Amino acid sequence: MTASQGKPQARGLRKGLTQYGDTDFSLFLRKAFIKGAGFTDEALDRPIIGIASTGSGYNPCHGNAKELIEAVKRGVMLAGGLPVEFPTISLHESFAYPTSMYLRNLMAMDTEEMLRALPMDAVVLLGGCDKTVPAQLMAAASVNVPAIQLVTGSMLTGSHRGTRVGACTDCRGYWAKFRGEQIDLEEINDVNNALVPSVGTCSVMGTASTMACVAEALGIMLPGGATAPAVTADRIRVAEKSGAQAVAMAAASITPDKLLTTQSFENALRMLLAIGGSTNAVIHLTAMAGRLGIEMDLDALDRMSRETPVLVNLKPSGQHYMEDLHAAGGVPTILRALKPMLHLDALTVTGRTLGEELELAPPPFPQEVVRSASQPVYPEGGLAVLKGNLAPRGAIIKQSAASDKLMEHVGRAVVFEDMQDMVARLDDPQLDVNADDILVLKNIGPLGAPGMPEAGMLPIPKKLARQGVKDMVRISDGRMSGTASGTIVLHVTPEAALGGPLALVKSGDQIELSVSRRLIKLNVSDEELEQRLAEHTKSGTATAPPTPEAQRGYRKLFLQHVLQADQGCDFDFLRASTFNSKVPSQS
Ligand code: FES
Repeated sequence: MTASQGKPQARGLRKGLTQYGDTDFSLFLRKAFIKGAGFTDEALDRPIIGIASTGSGYNPCHGNAKELIEAVKRGVMLAGGLPVEFPTISLHESFAYPTSMYLRNLMAMDTEEMLRALPMDAVVLLGGCDKTVPAQLMAAASVNVPAIQLVTGSMLTGSHRGTRVGACTDCRGYWAKFRGEQIDLEEINDVNNALVPSVGTCSVMGTASTMACVAEALGIMLPGGATAPAVTADRIRVAEKSGAQAVAMAAASITPDKLLTTQSFENALRMLLAIGGSTNAVIHLTAMAGRLGIEMDLDALDRMSRETPVLVNLKPSGQHYMEDLHAAGGVPTILRALKPMLHLDALTVTGRTLGEELELAPPPFPQEVVRSASQPVYPEGGLAVLKGNLAPRGAIIKQSAASDKLMEHVGRAVVFEDMQDMVARLDDPQLDVNADDILVLKNIGPLGAPGMPEAGMLPIPKKLARQGVKDMVRISDGRMSGTASGTIVLHVTPEAALGGPLALVKSGDQIELSVSRRLIKLNVSDEELEQRLAEHTKSGTATAPPTPEAQRGYRKLFLQHVLQADQGCDFDFLRASTFNSKVPSQS
């Protein structure tokens, strides 16, 4: 019998053979080359577990990747597999021009094609920083190879002049104080040394922490795997166990389509709302679900939010940090508090259901980080979906991190046409702006910037910051960091660069925000808006924005194919061709 005969399903080195027109020769050649690295036939006959490595000198959030990969390898070998590490693109928020979101789909494509091209029976995806976990899970969903998500874990908190600090809610808080001249240059430089005291992902409930908790709720991460800080023994043990679990997943064929179901997405959305998680996660979950033909229903998400209180007291919605959540029992503690709202029969990477895993989780104990539903941090979910003539396809606000007094607000628009315009004029002492005004920033959407940068939290104009103004209503078609707070309306869809109504707003217009009524409205008559639209679309007029374009390369691909926020900003050709279900479906 030849090497390729009589095998119902290729595994290990026999998977995805390079095409030479002779499969036996392909295997012969592949083995010859890898034996050049000193492997024996016995090792090569084991199930192969790929390890997607995102360690990079440009990614301090993944600064512990080397240690974690060693631990994953140990786990794989203890369970009888052969670990093989391979590199993919790595993205760090502060080391990605113009913005990491612009590159998320490129990382997803890179990861997807490597999962498809390389022989592996399962994969451990090592992610962490904001866009890496979404990119990896989008890829895994598309390839459907058994996959388990491992994250690098959160960084530790630091201390500044006796005050506990952590990235990046406190980065923004201290920077706002500096802009308002409440602290001086020496102090802001001191804070800069204290905010990030170790490798790992941001220490608050930013996007990285959110996606880690969401991945655990999805069942595609080991139970208890989301919250261990980066530089702890717990984190290394999670890595070792993830390696061992990947071998079991390969044997049991636990593929992403069995894990990423409408039920598990609903569990993930409950988690997102209950943790006061990042607005960005809505976009990422939409993109992940879209790979599987599951459509995100923003109206149903909003209904779910009205009945899902914020239970986790972490910054920016609350007070604590990720290491506190870990000490409080991590995600199992949150899941236990959410239990009546969850689909407990959803499968997890262990082959057991979420409900069975909760039964096996360590017992509860008194703690102050995860509240009960009767004593929530915020009575509704962290996020609200707004609609109105300014955002016909929706906008998002993180209501749990907004100012109560601005949630129902009518104000005069102060408009910036794009980011450059904002940078040029925001701090101009002559700028006609008051604390009750609404700052509007156009053209920072998926196409407009491009890449939908996290510029939606416009700084408070300096002259107002000096007067002590800490929050204003701000509206844009961009995103904001999950670590940020304020009364900030994001993801306005369709975006201005696509001719959405946001493009038509003029300084001096009245805008109405009513979070209770889920309304974002431009108080301008339909007739006037139609007239403005006609003017706006006339090419060559002063009001027509430059059409984003590119002649070549990834930028061209991006501009031709990126979708709007309500479709996850994925590329149109990467989404499923048919959609058979919606999430949430139960609200
Ligand atoms: Fe990487 Fe915040 S910058 S998680």
